Order: sequence, then structure tokens, then C-alpha cells
Amino acid sequence: MVQVAVMGYGVVGSGVVEVLSEHSESIAKRAKEQIDIKYILDIREFPDSPFVSRFTKNFDDILNDDDVKVVAEVMGGVHPAYEFTKQCLLKGKSVVTSNKELVATKGAELLEIARQNNVNYLFEASVGGGIPIIRPISQCLAANEVIEIAGILNGTTNFILTKMIRENMSFDDALGMAQKLGYAEKNPAADVEGHDACRKICILASLAYGKHVYPQYVHTNGITGMTLEDVAYASSWGGVIKLIGQVKRLDDGQLDITVEPMFIEKNSQLANVDDVFNGILVRGDATGDVVFYGKGAGKLPTASAVVADIIDCVKHLKARKYLHWIDGGDDIVKPYSQTVYPVYIRLESSLGKQAVTEKVTALFKNARSILRTNAPENEFAFVTDDMLVYEQENAVNALEQDGIHVLSKIRISDL
Ligand code: HSE
Repeated sequence: MVQVAVMGYGVVGSGVVEVLSEHSESIAKRAKEQIDIKYILDIREFPDSPFVSRFTKNFDDILNDDDVKVVAEVMGGVHPAYEFTKQCLLKGKSVVTSNKELVATKGAELLEIARQNNVNYLFEASVGGGIPIIRPISQCLAANEVIEIAGILNGTTNFILTKMIRENMSFDDALGMAQKLGYAEKNPAADVEGHDACRKICILASLAYGKHVYPQYVHTNGITGMTLEDVAYASSWGGVIKLIGQVKRLDDGQLDITVEPMFIEKNSQLANVDDVFNGILVRGDATGDVVFYGKGAGKLPTASAVVADIIDCVKHLKARKYLHWIDGGDDIVKPYSQTVYPVYIRLESSLGKQAVTEKVTALFKNARSILRTNAPENEFAFVTDDMLVYEQENAVNALEQDGIHVLSKIRISDL
């Protein structure tokens, strides 16, 4: 019998307890040990829970109990999850987590502490919910040089965009539904402003390229500015708008890593990843494209990944799983202004079609007009060829100075 503790009894934590208890027989067969939940840490009271006797509000109960070999940290947030995780690892307990914020900000340090203490720190649930992606990148695709990773990494924003695209639903109503269904973060700003997706692409980039990529170095733009007009133009262009986290290694060794809404062609594999589903494309030099698809958020999908990590730790109580990256700095990320891509621009002007077309043609590379039905007369939209971001920004400023108001600017992806 191996004793474990679960820290946090929210959406994911209650799912972990549910999966561990309801599947206890099959899990015991796979782990070759019975797994028993000795403690559940939460500051709230759960008097009606069938696990009421296991609850504690005192972290030291877990830390000082040598029988507890594996701890699931599903509290979320950096503090006190970081301090608790560090202390558990230093005490020789393996830790598994769904906490992408913690892994994205402190991963290199916690992995090193785990290595020094000969225990494991596993985080399959931190990216893609129930989709296996951490093990595939670190083990199954280990023979490849990873050329690129691109994905729809946030279920809440994908749910919102899908409702806007398919049902013309307002942003607020769709967000409310996602919150009710338990997809959104405690503070949904982390979802809609792209920070959650940023943490996830940072974890995947760190894993694929071996150096910690910190979220503060990654250009991140969410979906709060997205409008039904842009959705209509994307459709007339032949695609959809998705929030994409993307990283590629450039020839100079730096990483082009961003999180932003993008136009995606309808025939791209990622264009048809809808609702709360996530899709992650990994382009290896040997494999070519490999795509992972599944539910990226929600209680049981995420709990499934956490419990799989618990099983792995129980099977490797005396051995380390190789999962590691070293610390990294800001020099590994290409400054956003120097990245290159084609762009969609929507603008508003009373100058008239001919004058606007002349100015746009002079400022943007190979600008081609696109149309939508019922567009007002003073609205114009076009797409360009590849341009450096700082050239795009200079051109936008020049338009603004001429009294042409830029309403939207969205990257066009090559996925
Ligand atoms: N809020 C996150 C999402 C939860 O919507 O994807 C899973 O990480």
C-alpha cells in the first residue's frame, strides 16, 4: 500500500479523489500497489464528503508523515503551492501537479530540487488537460528535433470563440457558460487574456528545447478584443479565428514564441478543434506533423492526467523519470517586433475607397482587399504578405496619422 495526499479540493482535486477511489482496483493493478488517500488538504470544510475523515487544514500533517510518498498539488496559483511543493520534494516525496502557473514560473528550480532529492516532479495535467502531451514530447518524440509546436491550449477561449463563430453568442454569455462548466480559471482574465495559454506553451517550449522559457518574455495577446466582424472576415478569407500558442526554433537558435489569436485556414487540422477541445501539433524533423486532440479542461479529463502521474510515481518510488530542463534567460526569445508574418487588418475611414486603397497599397506588402456582407461603407479590410511586426506597426501608425482608424490587426498563420 502506498499513501498519497491531495492538496486542494477544488474542481481538479475532487476529480482526483473521485478517480482514485472509483477506479481503485484497476489502478492498483496498474500501479502494482494499492493507493490510499491519507490526507486531503483544504482550508474549507466538507462535512458531507465521504472522505471527511481525511481532510486536514494543516500542511505539516502531510509534510511530516513519512508514510506519504506522493503528493498531488492541485491547488493552483504560485503561492503557497510553490512553498508546499518545494518542501515536499526536499522531504523526499514525489509531487504531481496540474498547476501550469507554477510549472511555467518555477519549473526549472523544482525539477532540479526533485533531481537532487531523487524523487519525481510530474505535470502531465498542466498542459492539454486529459491529452497526453508531456510524456509524448519528453519520451515518444525524444529522437526528433522539434521544429515547431503550435496549439489551441486553452479550452475556455476555444469554447468562447466556437460559440461566437457558430452561434453568434456574445463573448460574456459564452464566458459565463464556460465558467459554469468548470473550464475557466478562478480568475477568467488568465484565460481570455491569453496568460493560461502562455504558461502552457512555455512549458512545452521548455520541454522541447531544454531551457526554461519564462512567460514574461513571451508576447501574449488574448481574445478580449475579438469581434463578430472579424469572425465574418476570417470566414470570407477562408478560415476561422483561433487563439494559438506557437513556438519554433529559428536558424539563429532563438525561439519565435507567441500567444495570439490567428486566422487559420479551414483545411488546417487546428481549424476544426472546437468547444473545450484542445489540439496540439508537434512538428518533428523525423516524424513530420503529429497532432494531439482531446478535452483540454474540466474535472475528470484533468484528474485523469494527475492520477496517471500518481501511478507513475508509485511505480517509480525508487527511480527517477527523466524530465528536466535548465534555467533560461530572455536571450532565448526573439523580440516580438522582429518576428515576421502576414496580417489581416480591418479599418474605418471616411476618406473613401480609392484614397484608402492607395495608402494601404503604399504601406503594406501586397495588400489584398477582403469583403463581408453588410459591412458599413466606411469599413475596409485586407490581408498582406509576410511583414516584420515593426514594419506592420509603423504602417498602422502612418494610417492613424492620416485619419484612418485601425480597428483590428490579427496574425495570419501558416498552420
Ligand atoms: N482554464 C483552463 C482552460 C483550464 O480553459 O483551458 C485547463 O488548463
